[in-house]
Amino acid sequence: MIRVLHISTECYPAAKAGGMGDVVGALPLYSQSEGIEASVVIPMYALAWFKEQKFKAVYQGSFQMGMENIQFEVLKLDSEALAYAFFCISFPGKFDRDSVYLAEDGEGFKDEVERNTSFQRAVLHWVNNNADQFDLLHCHDHQSGLIPFFASHGYDFEYLRNTPTYYTIHNAAYRGMWDWRHKDILPEFNEEHIGLLDWDHHIHSFATAIKCCWGYSTVSPSYLKEIAHNSGNLNWLYDHTKDKARGILNGIDTAFWNPKKDSFLDQVLKRSWKVFKTKNKEALCLRYGLDKQAPLFSFIGRLAYQKGADILTEAISNVLAQNTNATFIVLGSGSHELETAFRELEYNFGGRVKALIMYNEEVAHTIYAGSDYLLMPSRFEPCGLNQMFAMRYGTIPVVHSTGGLVDTVTDVAQGGCGIRFDEADFVHLRDAILRAVDFYK
Ligand code: GLC
Repeated sequence: MIRVLHISTECYPAAKAGGMGDVVGALPLYSQSEGIEASVVIPMYALAWFKEQKFKAVYQGSFQMGMENIQFEVLKLDSEALAYAFFCISFPGKFDRDSVYLAEDGEGFKDEVERNTSFQRAVLHWVNNNADQFDLLHCHDHQSGLIPFFASHGYDFEYLRNTPTYYTIHNAAYRGMWDWRHKDILPEFNEEHIGLLDWDHHIHSFATAIKCCWGYSTVSPSYLKEIAHNSGNLNWLYDHTKDKARGILNGIDTAFWNPKKDSFLDQVLKRSWKVFKTKNKEALCLRYGLDKQAPLFSFIGRLAYQKGADILTEAISNVLAQNTNATFIVLGSGSHELETAFRELEYNFGGRVKALIMYNEEVAHTIYAGSDYLLMPSRFEPCGLNQMFAMRYGTIPVVHSTGGLVDTVTDVAQGGCGIRFDEADFVHLRDAILRAVDFYK
């Protein structure tokens, strides 16, 4: 068995802000059969899941970070709640908050640089002192992107010199770029190699990871091709590192996302898909006051530019202004402007639009089960999991042809079970919705 430690800031069900949490939570369950014994480490947050668990302390440490003395404790989950070894690191004052990234005002926490640095330093300390425990360090997104550099060049981590580091890009748009004035909170390192930390005159967690890791992956093959050409001056970096890059498509946890056993549903799948879909759609429409005869379109996800949520508001109002027979449910939160736009749609088209401005796992399952279509007008999508959840629950994804959506959804016209459109703008989305309404008939 190869012993892999996944280093991440999210892991479902402990802490999740997006798809990375789902993947980090599920991958360890499935890599066992490939000869990999996976463990996970994330920061310990003041979130509900942590309060319900029992942990035992396995390591304590401290280090000087600029003016601050950081004390941390590594805790191991002491129960069968997860089928793999789960570690979390407690940092008084840094991660003991009830949100993973966002403050009350919906913006990222102001001390992100200190938080990410302290987490990575603590992981490095702990692993360096237990260097015989793990054969490979697998870092996820920029929050752990400095680890490949410090494992090679940090003075305090010399036992990690030969430990391979792997990096997975879940979203190349988030890069962890910091002003060089933050240098004094980094651990000491061999300054001959300082150039490896730099890109665009910043400490650049993402570029550093690409340069220093032993290998890296994107979460779909198409996304790797896209970013290699559309990333401005990072194109050069991708080109020079292409021999260590792979596009590996994400999967979903099919045991958890199982229409036959889903405990969030009133009606699970027995023999008939028709009964399953009809009953779940009825329940959903009843709960949210929607007409159950009309084709039901849903959207689940962050209300953000990446996800094309702005295009969606335009398309919905256009489609409904034409008196098209369709209903819409939106579940998600994000930019305040978009939240308001969806609330207004609900107000203007009562009984046709339901805007659920929140994140709720249970409601998400009932929407996948009860909808006819799931809309994903993402401008870009490194992989996307929602289209896979949808298909698993008999819901047809309507997607912009980008990234992982290309690799997972084939159009009905080509014998697949989705509807695809070529441009992420409201005209193409509207036409795709109208095509779906027609197809529904
Ligand atoms: C990020 C990406 C999404 C991907 C997920 C898991 O959230 O935006 O496309 O599916 O990570 O890798």
